[in-house]
Amino acid sequence: MPVVDQTSMLLLKGYAWLPGLRRRAAGDVVHTRLLGRRATGLCGPDAARFFYDERNVERRTALPGPIKSTLFGHGSVHGLDGAAHRVRKAMFTSLFSAPAVAALVAHVTTEWDLAVASWEGRRVVLFDETAEVITRAVCDWAGVTVDDGDLPELAADLVTMVDGLGSSGPRHWRARQARRRREAWLERFVRDLRDGSEDAPPDSAAEVVAVHRDAGGRPLHPRVAAVELLNVLRPTVAVSWFVAYAAHALHRWPEHRARLASGDAEFAEAFAHELRRFYPFAPLLGGRAARELDWRGEHIPAGSLVLLDVYGQHHDPRFWRDPYTFDPRRFLGTEPGPYDLIPQGGGDPASGHRCPGETLTVALLRTLTPRLARLDYDVPRQDLSISLRRLPARLSSGFVLVPALTPM
Ligand code: HEM
Repeated sequence: MPVVDQTSMLLLKGYAWLPGLRRRAAGDVVHTRLLGRRATGLCGPDAARFFYDERNVERRTALPGPIKSTLFGHGSVHGLDGAAHRVRKAMFTSLFSAPAVAALVAHVTTEWDLAVASWEGRRVVLFDETAEVITRAVCDWAGVTVDDGDLPELAADLVTMVDGLGSSGPRHWRARQARRRREAWLERFVRDLRDGSEDAPPDSAAEVVAVHRDAGGRPLHPRVAAVELLNVLRPTVAVSWFVAYAAHALHRWPEHRARLASGDAEFAEAFAHELRRFYPFAPLLGGRAARELDWRGEHIPAGSLVLLDVYGQHHDPRFWRDPYTFDPRRFLGTEPGPYDLIPQGGGDPASGHRCPGETLTVALLRTLTPRLARLDYDVPRQDLSISLRRLPARLSSGFVLVPALTPM
């Protein structure tokens, strides 16, 4: 029975923590302690299927307070189970129909093209520019009114909420402050929408969240409505992480640039999948054993934590040929199964906790990365490292580029 709590080791070792423990454990299953509780670490598509079975693992009470206070918000869909989850989740899936995703991608593309035109001859940080482009577009699409002057700060706050997720120091406190500021702002906005002093287009995210009724038939508390509206804006802006990773990949492996730039849509989708497999974002997912469980002969006590090793699964040679090679071609002519590629969770997004924004994420990357591949730019000397000890990992420089001047 393990006694030493591993929380500080997770914060210290980051993405390598759970894979490292699994390597040392006989039989690939890890019994450990995290956040003061017993925990069992699992890995692989079968483990993902087991994890996403609601009879096995529940989310209520599983989310640590610091994660709620920075990343997700208190009272959000992430921590609901059963009927309460299904009704709240339906609100999110209704927002991301194919036409709605296409409309948001069109907004982002327009803003991106305008921004790129303004970069000429200027040194820009791709991560920061992308975050602003997406913030402007997603707020407009969602019907959230933002003053132009507040936009850079809003983009920075949305990034900060994601960036503070695995830190106990200043990064964490900045994320809490950003969340408090933006929840208060959106709470006022929701109240104004409800009393008619603001308005938002019908079917926009702001309107849908403001009028949504939960499983009990009651509207969301304005603070929770603000939390859920942030759960649309914040993760959309988080796609900037992968845009910076795309620039990194094109720089390191330029052999993919021509095909990506060519407009080959199948390759662009494969490139988006490989970005999300290869580069670090969510290290692991956690829930609570809903009852006494048995996983391949290993006992998991009721109420203990169950951890799914996301990063480990994506870099395990049992599941991927040459997992440390960046090769989008591995996804050509094949659709990953529901539990194979899980950077945004596994299973069915409508009924389980899988990310409702995954089609949007892929659509944005499918559109933006070929544009990036077609851009002519210089890459000045900079720190292109990505530390796997940092949670979440992030390209150190954010990718600095200087677009080439177009001849007059
Ligand atoms: C859930 C990752 C983009 C909204 C999740 C989960 C992960 C994830 C790992 C948790 C799955 C689980 O608990 O089983 C990502 C990544 C993104 C991204 C890496 C791209 C950078 C988006 C977008 C949206 C979104 C664009 C919406 C605009 C959500 C919501 C949930 C969620 C609302 C909670 C779902 C639930 O608990 O049922 N995402 N996501 N995400 N994501 Fe995303």
